[in-house]
Amino acid sequence: MATWSAPGKVFLFGEHAVVYGKPGIAMAIKPRVQVTVRHTHHYQRPNSPYIAECFNLLDIKGSVYVRSQLPSASGLGSSAAVTVATLFAINDEFSLGYNKDEVADLAHEVEKITQGGRASATDTYVSTFGGMVLIRGDEKRRLIPPQNFSIVLGNSMISHNTAEQVKKVADFLEKSPKIANPIVDAIGAITMEAMHNMDNLHELGNLMNRNQALLDALGVGHPCLSKLILAARNAGAYGAKLSGAGGGGCIWALCSRGTRNRVVNAIDKYEGKPIATGIDTEGVRKEESL
Ligand code: MEV
Repeated sequence: MATWSAPGKVFLFGEHAVVYGKPGIAMAIKPRVQVTVRHTHHYQRPNSPYIAECFNLLDIKGSVYVRSQLPSASGLGSSAAVTVATLFAINDEFSLGYNKDEVADLAHEVEKITQGGRASATDTYVSTFGGMVLIRGDEKRRLIPPQNFSIVLGNSMISHNTAEQVKKVADFLEKSPKIANPIVDAIGAITMEAMHNMDNLHELGNLMNRNQALLDALGVGHPCLSKLILAARNAGAYGAKLSGAGGGGCIWALCSRGTRNRVVNAIDKYEGKPIATGIDTEGVRKEESL
């Protein structure tokens, strides 16, 4: 029996555009998913398509048990964390001998298959290695998180489907390339600006708000997300935007220490679930099997 855990993530800048080779910035966060895999003779097909695809890809049969502190389908990378933890647990339990980079690549492959052929390596890479990372195509650059980087998450409690949101953007790009391509390009430009302004929280907040406007233009917003984003901004956040695929799920707000509580209260008041979180620098790790 082998047990591994992996962290979730916040998509800071560049979601969706990152699928088309533009840069994206994401950060691993504290809530984790823990997966236990056991070599058994009785194979029960797992309910999660991500876990099923892990076993399928490695041509392995075993039993699996998942414990999660991460809300699923909420833009916090729970599918990537489940995928990463499952693959590391299989690799360990069946002594397959893959190294960390190879398992991260396999996790990306699983996400691609389950997301209809379109997925960036962002969520799986961040969940594997932890920290804050810039991803652009095959390039992965570790970033130093700014001091006093205080964030509040707000869960809209509207569950979303990443594959559907990714397809929505793909359809928009195919149907109206003259409109959609410049939006994707502009999101990429904003992400690069953000990378150069990590210590300037005012500017970072402005860039978040512009990124959100472009995500709305891509069609992946949701009225409940807009409500939480506006509430957080009115409560004094530097900026606020959705995290991940959109169409529901979570927002994140960038705060100063002084405004943090006001932002938490505002999210609560507008029927969101505030989540206190911080950066996870560890990534995937082996746990004691109980
Ligand atoms: C999902 O967390 C982020 C998306 O950009 C999809 C991906 O990067 O694979 C929407």
